[in-house]
Amino acid sequence: MDQDFDALIVGAGGAGLWAALELAQAGVPTAVLSKLYPTRSHTGAAQGGVCAALGNHEEDHWEWHMFDTVKGGDYLTDQDAAEVLAREAIETVIELEHMGLPFNRTPDGKIDQRRFGGHTRNFGEGPVRRSCFAADRTGHMILQTLYQQCIKAGVQFFDEYHVVDLLFDGGDAGAGGRAAGVVAYRIADGELVALRAKAVLLATGGFGRMFRITSNAWSLTGDGAALAYRHGVPLQDMEFYQFHPTGIVGIGILLSEAARGEGGYLRNDSGERFMARYAPTLMELAPRDMVSRAIYMEIREGRGIGGKDYVYLDVTHLGRKVIEEKLPDITDFARIYQGVEPISEPIPIQPTAHYAMGGIPTDLHARVIQDAERTIVPGLYAAGECACVSVHGANRLGTNSLVDLLVFGRRAGRQMARDVRGFELPDLAQDAIEPVRAELRAISERPTGENAARIRADLADVMMDNVGVYRTEALLAAALPRVRELKERYSRVHVDDKGAVFNTDLLEAREVGYLLDCAETTVVSALARKESRGAHAREDYPERDDVNFLQHTLAYRAEGGPRLAYKPVTITRFEPKPRTY
Ligand code: FUM
Repeated sequence: MDQDFDALIVGAGGAGLWAALELAQAGVPTAVLSKLYPTRSHTGAAQGGVCAALGNHEEDHWEWHMFDTVKGGDYLTDQDAAEVLAREAIETVIELEHMGLPFNRTPDGKIDQRRFGGHTRNFGEGPVRRSCFAADRTGHMILQTLYQQCIKAGVQFFDEYHVVDLLFDGGDAGAGGRAAGVVAYRIADGELVALRAKAVLLATGGFGRMFRITSNAWSLTGDGAALAYRHGVPLQDMEFYQFHPTGIVGIGILLSEAARGEGGYLRNDSGERFMARYAPTLMELAPRDMVSRAIYMEIREGRGIGGKDYVYLDVTHLGRKVIEEKLPDITDFARIYQGVEPISEPIPIQPTAHYAMGGIPTDLHARVIQDAERTIVPGLYAAGECACVSVHGANRLGTNSLVDLLVFGRRAGRQMARDVRGFELPDLAQDAIEPVRAELRAISERPTGENAARIRADLADVMMDNVGVYRTEALLAAALPRVRELKERYSRVHVDDKGAVFNTDLLEAREVGYLLDCAETTVVSALARKESRGAHAREDYPERDDVNFLQHTLAYRAEGGPRLAYKPVTITRFEPKPRTY
């Protein structure tokens, strides 16, 4: 092995950084590997805030936050996880404040809070100010703050090391093995490096790049989820993929829900605030699945702007001061990418693929679990978007992504610090690195073949057109053979760049393979779920069906395609009810 650590963390977003900080502060030798420079991680793109029931403007309670999270998730949320999230949100935000995060302030110096979709007072009575924010760059500030703390605590960073395989001792996860380290491709010179560890945390983010219109950076390719899946870990609830209502038309860059939290409106072609017809109580601040469906419905029924496939986000009535102080980045995005002046003009928007509710199943301490019996995969942990604890159920509420990565990133670090004391360094064969070396060599030495970027674009088209906001049996059934045909083409993928130095061509080819695994499990899981729940809207099964489908999907890698199993939902306080807003 090239180097040994007690703990390895793959990914340097908020979850990975907070876990690393906990470990370093506990004196555990820890390294973070990231394919990007850490502060370029996608946590930095989370804009509107992080919810915590601080009650700085009005009465609020963690129980209300928990209820909103469960209802927002269409009752697929595991309620023990939602309780942890809502309770610990409060202390994590205060801890971040003490680390120096520059939150906006109320006139009396407290952390400022704004409204956000689906967050309510007194179990649904009306919107509540719960989102703690730093203008519209909250995620960016979290990344900077945690990265500085990690440097101070002595965390070792391997920047631009692209993890291309996981190492196991005693067989894969499915065969009772334990995580033993990772293989990383050093982007600077193409060397493969093996790092051994007692505990490995996957914190690699999501896989929004399987869609054409997405808020996700190019780096969001499902690396951790796909690698775990290839080693026998199931992927949970992959059919639930969130479309954020307000992306920049055509390119999908996020325009934060904070715009609506500050009082912005959604309008159709006749200027109507159409959300009144879909969610009369919360209006524009209904949960994202509902708002995105409403926008699609307006467009489908001919009320898009000029009959086209977008509507308006209107913040003109908020005034220059609010826009400049609270929404500076997104209004600049509108100026730069759309040539629109948000102070005086409405902004054209359409839903954009944003967030995976599904991913690697874990328990409340970020330990990866293997089955409905919650069997732990020793030494393997996951947190943040690549994980599924499941705190978001069928639909995540705005800001709960940041809460999730902070709360469960912190828990992951604490659990790993406890566990490594009892773990020995695992045994690893000298040739453990060879399978992935052979896979990469096959791609780079193939003289001709399929182009990875072409496969990625074709995948993005089929996922967008057939597996988007509205789904049917016919659309999904047509998507599956197309995804499989792309997998077949992928077996012949080749790259033009044959060099070793900064060969992003090769790494992009590797990433497309991960996206294909995520897409196939998404389609297979979606086909099997014959109901509508949260972000999974089946036009052929428009009702939620708690009798048959109040359960989590587990997709296991198998010969001929994913094999599905199911896992019960944990219900502790709130019985499923019809979901109106
Ligand atoms: O709209 C937003 O600011 C996004 C936040 C989130 O996804 O939680």
